[in-house]
Amino acid sequence: MALEVKNVRKVFSINKDGIEVLKDINLNIKDGEIVSVVGSSGCGKSTLLKLLIGLEDVTEGDITINEKKPYEIDSTEVGMIFQEARLFPWKSVYKNIEFGIARKDIPKKEKKELVNHYIELVGLKGFENALPDQLSGGMKQRVSIARTLINKPKILLLDEPFGALDAFTKINLQNEMLNIWEKEKTTMIIVTHDIDEAIYLGHKVVVMSPKPGIIQKEFKIDISRPRSRTSDDFDYYRKKIYKEFFGENIANIEYII
Ligand SMILES: Nc1ncnc2c1ncn2[C@@H]1O[C@H](COP(=O)(O)OP(=O)(O)OP(=O)(O)O)[C@@H](O)[C@H]1O
Ligand SMILES: [Mg+2]
Repeated sequence: MALEVKNVRKVFSINKDGIEVLKDINLNIKDGEIVSVVGSSGCGKSTLLKLLIGLEDVTEGDITINEKKPYEIDSTEVGMIFQEARLFPWKSVYKNIEFGIARKDIPKKEKKELVNHYIELVGLKGFENALPDQLSGGMKQRVSIARTLINKPKILLLDEPFGALDAFTKINLQNEMLNIWEKEKTTMIIVTHDIDEAIYLGHKVVVMSPKPGIIQKEFKIDISRPRSRTSDDFDYYRKKIYKEFFGENIANIEYII
């Protein structure tokens, strides 16, 4: 599904005053594209995702998803993954994933095949009966990913999905997302604080800046896949994006992030 964001502005009213959180946001996302969004805390990244999913209304401007407004889109076509896995602690891995199925009229056998397929896809075979408390953080996030993917959303919005994970688990899950993308060509928008993650995953990296949140720059990432974090190409974009945030003086980093 393709997305078009046109001249979007978002103002939240706190008491009588309004705060302008997003301003002049223009963004085109093609069907099957992965777009990474980076920007400092509070610049409006999560708000942008909420506008895209129809959880919040724009104050001005337009958002269209395949010619429709966000609230007109069938909720099963859009999936959202958050930083922390939100699982039912009393339900097993299997039951948590099964619960994600939006279509309630699926025959039992088909349902079982579907759940098992996604358990396998996220590498949790053998853990079907485990409870969330018996899983590591990365495994919990895998359950959450499977539960969202099971409806085959056409658009997947990810809000710092791997932020709480260690570097190895993070890289594994990034690769899993790319495997899924290879198979399903899902349009993905991933908000992240990790510049390497943004470059590794994105066809495009959108850099936002705060107060009010604007799109400062877009980088088309012209590196063939699989991408290597240690390649010169990768470093080229890494440097460009770091410079976009911090100028030449990387010592500014602690004041901005
Ligand atoms: N419902 C709301 N009412 C009022 N203000 C809000 C609301 N939601 C968000 N804001 C404000 O909008 C701004 C952007 O918030 P948002 O959560 O989109 O930032 P973010 O870029 O996702 O930050 P982070 O990286 O820390 O998650 C913040 O100043 C926040 O206080
Ligand atoms: Mg956020």
